[in-house]
Amino acid sequence: MALPSHGLGRDDVLAQLDGLKADDVRWRDGHAFTLVYNAGDDVLAVAEAAYARYSSENALNTDAFPSLRRIQNEVVGIVGDWLQAGPEGAGFMTSGGTESILMAVKAARERGRKERNITAPNVVLPTSAHAAFEKGCYYFGLESRRIPVGADWRADVPAMEAAIDDNTVLVVGSAPQYPQGVIDPIADIAALAAARDINCHVDGCMGGVTLTYLARLGHDIQPWNFTVPGVTSISVDLHKFGYTAKGASVIMHRNKRLRNYQTYVTDNWLGGLYGSSGVLGTKGGGAMAAAWAVMNYLGDDGYLRLAAAARRACEQLAAAVVAIPELQLRAAPDAMLLAFGAADPARLDVYALADALWRRGWYLDRQGPPASLHCTVNAVHDGKIDAFVTDLHASLAEVLAAGAGGEQGAYGTVE
Ligand SMILES: Cc1ncc(COP(=O)(O)O)c(C=O)c1O
Repeated sequence: MALPSHGLGRDDVLAQLDGLKADDVRWRDGHAFTLVYNAGDDVLAVAEAAYARYSSENALNTDAFPSLRRIQNEVVGIVGDWLQAGPEGAGFMTSGGTESILMAVKAARERGRKERNITAPNVVLPTSAHAAFEKGCYYFGLESRRIPVGADWRADVPAMEAAIDDNTVLVVGSAPQYPQGVIDPIADIAALAAARDINCHVDGCMGGVTLTYLARLGHDIQPWNFTVPGVTSISVDLHKFGYTAKGASVIMHRNKRLRNYQTYVTDNWLGGLYGSSGVLGTKGGGAMAAAWAVMNYLGDDGYLRLAAAARRACEQLAAAVVAIPELQLRAAPDAMLLAFGAADPARLDVYALADALWRRGWYLDRQGPPASLHCTVNAVHDGKIDAFVTDLHASLAEVLAAGAGGEQGAYGTVE
């Protein structure tokens, strides 16, 4: 496509954008079990209005935009309360879970280098930890030591311990991990770090908002936040179960000393002193303002209500999967994520099942190994599970009758 030689009209370009969406997954009515989170039209409207007010503002320099400094501090403060970080807790907003995790990896590397002179650092983490850790190790030059999970899909802590050596700068646990939706034994992982005075990052990108509320709703949630000795940082994605606009996460450190390893400052160019809190230079204010607005709009009782709704839908879906003999639920969900595969992979290709569901409008993540379909269940799905299960049955019958095969596809694409 070439740039039009004369600009088009406003209504024209906006109509074209709306047209472009025609084949996208219908997330507003709950057809996406991944990628999008929806707490209702009123919440979306608040996020969009707040985003629009700050779409040009830039948090790279909060001297010019003290409002964004305040917005960031208040958002981080709320997240700190959820994480029980206490007055010492110190964090930044980032553009998403990946940037938060990259910063945790970078901070661990810097700390190892400065405090212990480590030049060949490694990270010990379960195979279930998110791909963003792999990216961080690759970007920042650390060795990734992936340790197979146990039969319950949780981190195998003794095996992790055996992989730690003098060059280990970081151990990782997830609350919950993405692939099967279970929470790692955070206290045991953090104890490995505490005993060696190294970093322990808890990936709370998925659970950081909801686990606090699930505990308050009476669910048995094992300790996972800063109340656990040895945890040094936690990532929490607001653009997931915080229901804010895309581009908002928080990386929280136990204290400012640990947070200092995250930041970057240089004056080695002709443009003066340049400091940045994360990967980004220019840091758009839109997602920050939208997060602030949605969090204040929803309030504590709003998040409690949304956590109950998402959990209700997740339990209903898990029960429906368990009731289908051809499917196997990988694990009882600890939060709002679940995955299922074929009871007999020789008879059923779950990627073909995903194809059949997509033909009916439902989008699920395809993952493996082992070949599985993954559902991130959020508040929008409350009341929609019956319709999904009806289509799940129809799709299953179709695939079994046809003996169809499918492609794994990708969790994230490079096109
Ligand atoms: C557990 C976990 N960590 C990290 C991430 C990465 O987050 P993002 O896609 O916002 O970069 C995800 C994304 O789904 C996740 O599930």
